[in-house]
Amino acid sequence: MAINVPWVKLPQTKYEQLRNGKRGVVFKLSPQYVGKIIYRQVRENKYELRHDKESLEELTHEHNICEKLYKNNIGNVPKPIGVDRLGILESSYPTFIMEYITLPRGDEINHVDLGKATRLTISEIGKATDIGLLAGKDVLNPANFFYDTEKNQVRLIDFGRWTDLLKKYHDDEEYPQDRNI
Ligand SMILES: Nc1ncnc2c1ncn2[C@@H]1O[C@H](COP(=O)(O)OP(=O)(O)OP(=O)(O)O)[C@@H](O)[C@H]1O
Ligand SMILES: [Mg+2]
Repeated sequence: MAINVPWVKLPQTKYEQLRNGKRGVVFKLSPQYVGKIIYRQVRENKYELRHDKESLEELTHEHNICEKLYKNNIGNVPKPIGVDRLGILESSYPTFIMEYITLPRGDEINHVDLGKATRLTISEIGKATDIGLLAGKDVLNPANFFYDTEKNQVRLIDFGRWTDLLKKYHDDEEYPQDRNI
């Protein structure tokens, strides 16, 4: 599975820019922690970090999913720390702060290990479903999990497209205003 995500090049900041996906840029905050900020493309080869309300909401959603998985011991997800504003560049940006994972990503391992990692991921998806968390459609994208060869363990990341079915049910439920019962 080939993934072609361009390198999002931002001006030099006090935090090292580690990697990016199609939505988020990940910065190293300390030897233990990273922060994910959502970006947008403004024109060719020009990107900017987002600090709008929607990006805060998206990262809070991602944090909440990660926290639920973490508390239920599913997916060996990074320890979530929280969502806070991080002052970098010329502004401050909503940032999902979490544990820094230094293992190789699914797209950096050999195809035998990738097979193992994919099967483990599928098993973790099953456990997540049992607690009402529906994995995002990109969960099997090898850029969205790390693999620990020694422990034969996967560590899932990137929960932006996951759904908390219990929360969704609760939010979607409509209470009629004037029910005659
Ligand atoms: N906790 C972490 N520790 C180390 N690296 C991380 C961590 N979280 C993310 N990364 C790196 O940053 C990359 C982008 O993060 P992530 O997948 O969350 O962003 P995204 O833009 O939502 O991805 P996508 O392109 O799948 O939508 C990851 O592929 C990974 O290499
Ligand atoms: Mg990703």
